[in-house]
Amino acid sequence: MSIEIDLIFKKYKPGRREDLIPLLQEIQENNGYLSEDVIVKAGVYTGLSTTKIYGLATFYDQFRFIPCGKIQIKVCHGTSCFLNGSQAVINRIKEETGLQARQTSRDGLLSYDIVTCMGGCNNGPVISVNGEYYTFVKPEQIPDLIKKIRYIIEND
Ligand code: FES
Repeated sequence: MSIEIDLIFKKYKPGRREDLIPLLQEIQENNGYLSEDVIVKAGVYTGLSTTKIYGLATFYDQFRFIPCGKIQIKVCHGTSCFLNGSQAVINRIKEETGLQARQTSRDGLLSYDIVTCMGGCNNGPVISVNGEYYTFVKPEQIPDLIKKIRYIIEND
């Protein structure tokens, strides 16, 4: 386990079940996902079984248990983006990648997440690709966008 993750654990007092979700959120923010080691350690730390932690973490829909792809797409599905057609964008990403949200392609290159608001509500649908924002996204832009980014990553 990395030093950063150990430092995150040290910020929380052992045995406090109510700290579980903020602890996992912070680890995921730092690490990109929750590994099996982290879940086991979180169980020892908070006094919860790993089964209970997996149950809680999957209920919260925001956690991932496998590493993100090198290309990480975030699609906003907040109210404003939804009203501007984000579902069609999500459907196109699904079609194009064959993946569900929070899955990672076998080659480790691509993953996508659905998020609730990216702060650009007047410019939706909004997506980000490795932190770069795209606004007023149309479903038909998705195949070229993925091809372009895949090419850049593979030839980097
Ligand atoms: S709802 Fe999509 S950016 Fe706010």
